[in-house]
Amino acid sequence: MSEISSVVRKASRVEIVEVAPRDGFQSISNPLPTADKARCIEALIHAGVRRIEIGSFVSPKAIPQMADTADLFRQFCDVPGLRLSALVPNLRGADNALEAGVNELVYVVSVSETHNQKNVRQSVDASLDGLANIAQRVREHAGESRPAMRLDLGTSFDCPYDGLVSWQQVSAVLEKALQLTQGINLEVAFCDTTGRATPWQVADYFLNLQRMHGKSGIAWAFHGHDTYGMGVANALFAIQHGATVLDASAAGLGGCPFAPGATGNTATEDLVYALNGANIQCGIDLNQLLEAADLIASLPGGQTASHLRHVPRQRIA
Ligand code: COA
Ligand code: ZN
Repeated sequence: MSEISSVVRKASRVEIVEVAPRDGFQSISNPLPTADKARCIEALIHAGVRRIEIGSFVSPKAIPQMADTADLFRQFCDVPGLRLSALVPNLRGADNALEAGVNELVYVVSVSETHNQKNVRQSVDASLDGLANIAQRVREHAGESRPAMRLDLGTSFDCPYDGLVSWQQVSAVLEKALQLTQGINLEVAFCDTTGRATPWQVADYFLNLQRMHGKSGIAWAFHGHDTYGMGVANALFAIQHGATVLDASAAGLGGCPFAPGATGNTATEDLVYALNGANIQCGIDLNQLLEAADLIASLPGGQTASHLRHVPRQRIA
């Protein structure tokens, strides 16, 4: 196995960003008690998760589930070796995040105009203006104290309203975004918001977009949903074609009440199982992760989607 995999696999290690605390918890309509969230986050850290999107600094009217993000950040910001990020939809969110001490900001721009309007109630161009403002704020911090940024390009493959999104459309938005973020430590994620992408499409987009925009200093990430059952395959094709960072959600927690049948992000445990099979290191202990996933799945009101949690534990080695 290891001889074969060392020939066919390219990556030897990959970073996983656990997004259950943001993408997952926000999908539970009744906001969870902060203590319950904290127990789940603790279990994830115990399993070896080293990057977590802890929440978002958004309007509490739009997403009340995220109102305790600063509190959760405070609880975990001193854990050695743990990297926490938070989503910010605008300059106000960025200022709130920076004030809370968050030093990695996630900013979302959807490539598709309609989805961007639905998500953040503004045009793609207005979102890019917002990115420019946040980038300017980030640049006000000099040297090592300068926060890092993650740009999430939503609907990079498919839009629930406009259908297929071409890599050329992604490229056009990315081009502008890269001009606006010069001098900033940047990670770019291509997000399969609907889970409708297929593996060779993912490979094609990663190859073309890196050919057009690849330069040192940018890390490439893939944020996938598992709605069509493609989540793990898409993530593997992404890392075979240049991604070094994968987003995933323990227990596959997520889903959107406005998109019937939509499920959450690719389950972290399903992804880790696939990575373990090729000796690709991600630092996470699968058995401990399954315990964290069980805890997350026991939260009331959550929609989960995981293969591995339903396999008898003695069959998972
Ligand atoms: N943090 C806290 N409050 C905020 C805020 C922020 N980052 N941004 C705006 N607000 C408040 C405003 O003060 C205003 O409050 P008020 O009604 O008491 O005056 C209210 O939210 C609406 O603000 P407005 O500027 O009119 O924005 P909007 O109604 O067009 O909403 C967003 C735009 C982006 C702020 C809102 O839709 C949002 O937070 N969306 C979250 C998107 C998200 O996280 N999606 C999932 C990730 S992909
Ligand atoms: Zn998502």
